Amino acid sequence: MPTTPDISRAWPPDDHYSLLQRCRSLYHELWFRLSERIRWSRQPYHETPIGCLAGLTSWQIARINELQVRYNLRFETHYGQHTALANYAYLDLLHQAWTNTNRPVPQGGVVADVGCANFWYARTLHAFFRPATLTGVDVEGFRLYPTGYSRYDAARGYIAGLSQTSFLVANYCEVETKADVITAWFPFVTPSPVLAWRLPLTVFSPERLFDRIARNLTSQGLFFMVNQGSDEAAIAADYGRRAGLQLVDRWVHPRPLRTRPHPPVVTWWTA
Ligand SMILES: C[S@@+](CC[C@H](N)C(=O)[O-])C[C@H]1O[C@@H](n2cnc3c(N)ncnc32)[C@H](O)[C@@H]1O
Repeated sequence: MPTTPDISRAWPPDDHYSLLQRCRSLYHELWFRLSERIRWSRQPYHETPIGCLAGLTSWQIARINELQVRYNLRFETHYGQHTALANYAYLDLLHQAWTNTNRPVPQGGVVADVGCANFWYARTLHAFFRPATLTGVDVEGFRLYPTGYSRYDAARGYIAGLSQTSFLVANYCEVETKADVITAWFPFVTPSPVLAWRLPLTVFSPERLFDRIARNLTSQGLFFMVNQGSDEAAIAADYGRRAGLQLVDRWVHPRPLRTRPHPPVVTWWTA
């Protein structure tokens, strides 16, 4: 069973939050705590596969075809249009980032993804890293969706059939498991997105999060981070450096498969 996230050490929120931010945080805190207490769970939720993607441009189709051949998979046989395309976009980013920087992909190791939401992209990480174990960690496990299923149910559906893959409900700041590869896709490094994701500011503790990432990396381990645009990437990099991580490489995706408001900035770090 998942463990209860320990968010007590992050309370109370820092003084520099505005009154409005504090009020919103308190409101989200109520729902967050309620969902963690109730832990609503029915059964694994599986998306209805779309079968065939629609509405793509010719360059998107060409790139998806390349990924299908290279990784021998078809996300549309597992997921609806949105999730299938989002998985291709993450796989495309991984593939292009590693290829364009001539980096050897660390396969066969222990892989952890920090802040995985419902781990809708577990299949992508699995195909790319071919991990010995793959663990998605998120502090919020039991958000209830309009379908009547919880995030936990969705995560169980997304990891179904993937060997040695699990979903852990925990605050990663409290997780003490070593990993050869740690990934973080769009981690919170400023407070506004935390509130936009309907989470309380008590879960926002980037210093502790990056510190834990640095501690959990094995000596040869690699931390792979994706941020939204260069401003956010600069803030994240600052947290990384302060945690003692060493920047290895940086790459900006010139043309993501799915349009984003800011170009994804990829960085690799060692402990
Ligand atoms: C911006 S979302 C990104 C979700 C996912 N990585 C993706 O690309 O769709 C950040 C996620 O990190 C989770 N999170 C924030 N702080 C965390 C922590 N300390 N430990 C684990 N998960 C955390 C949030 O619950 C949220 O799901």
